[in-house]
Amino acid sequence: MDRLMGKRAVITGAASGLGRSLATTLAGEGWRIGIVDINDAGARETLEMVERAGGTGEIYHTDVASPEAVKAMADHFFDSWGGVDLLVNNAGVAVAGFVGDIPLEDWKWIHDINFWGMVYGCHEFIPRMQVQGGGHIVNVASSAGLLSPAEMAPYNTTKAAVISLSETLRAEVSPYNIGITVACPMFFNTNLLECARYTDDWEKEWCESTFRYARMTSEEVANRIITAVKKDKLYAVPQLSGKFFWLNKRMMPGTFHGLFRFLNRHGLERPLFKVLARLGLLQ
Ligand SMILES: NC(=O)c1ccc[n+]([C@@H]2O[C@H](COP(=O)([O-])OP(=O)(O)OC[C@H]3O[C@@H](n4cnc5c(N)ncnc54)[C@H](O)[C@@H]3O)[C@@H](O)[C@H]2O)c1
Repeated sequence: MDRLMGKRAVITGAASGLGRSLATTLAGEGWRIGIVDINDAGARETLEMVERAGGTGEIYHTDVASPEAVKAMADHFFDSWGGVDLLVNNAGVAVAGFVGDIPLEDWKWIHDINFWGMVYGCHEFIPRMQVQGGGHIVNVASSAGLLSPAEMAPYNTTKAAVISLSETLRAEVSPYNIGITVACPMFFNTNLLECARYTDDWEKEWCESTFRYARMTSEEVANRIITAVKKDKLYAVPQLSGKFFWLNKRMMPGTFHGLFRFLNRHGLERPLFKVLARLGLLQ
């Protein structure tokens, strides 16, 4: 059975950014989209865009940090649609700062959404996909989870955990005709920074400049992820910069992290990152 044949996708965080771009791109190919988010106004806009693109859709208000809400959402789509072929665990938030300065409540906030939200999604959808005979799950992580840059520990740790979860699942669910893709983009421009939390103004300004000078749009990132899903690839690393840094990290992990340690010790990391962001080399 073709695991994507039914063209029914549920996308969390679909009211904005990457989730919306994934929704409209799939809608252009005739998919039915479950638009899952806490932002109802944004979800309504996405629904209009999905319909204009030629698809159909339905909004389901869900806070992915609530296991009960994610279970009710999964029950809803499997009962009323008769199945779901693709789940995209995409909803996410960002926190930047130094360990020790970042309030523990911000650690908890981001882990509840970026990590636990994706665990709840996998927990509820995998058994249902097994029963229906297959499907595909995309977990949206980040290159941050592969590279562990400084001043982003809460974000890095959620994304690294999601990468590990996805790598684990890749083998675990393969007997059930379920594919797994983990998306690891570098920076691209979305509304992610609107509710991001920082410990100082430099981080805010720097994050904003990575978005301002981004080379790839969310539509292009979405297209690359969808291509990876169709090819049943485990990793989707859309930008060339992400592929380059990841290759270096895998080839020489000690040297890679040693370089950033040297830069940080000598106060060079912030100026260098600022230049790289302005040149679009982190995006
Ligand atoms: N933009 C980037 O540079 C970038 C890079 C790498 C990875 N990512 C990841 O891409 C994913 C999408 O982010 P984006 O950049 O499109 O940001 P975005 O803010 O534009 O979209 C995120 C969506 O998630 C929703 N959301 C947040 N908390 C939620 C919750 N508790 N329950 C349900 N929905 C919730 C928001 O309402 C929003 O609609 C995230 O997982 C993010 O970490 C983004």
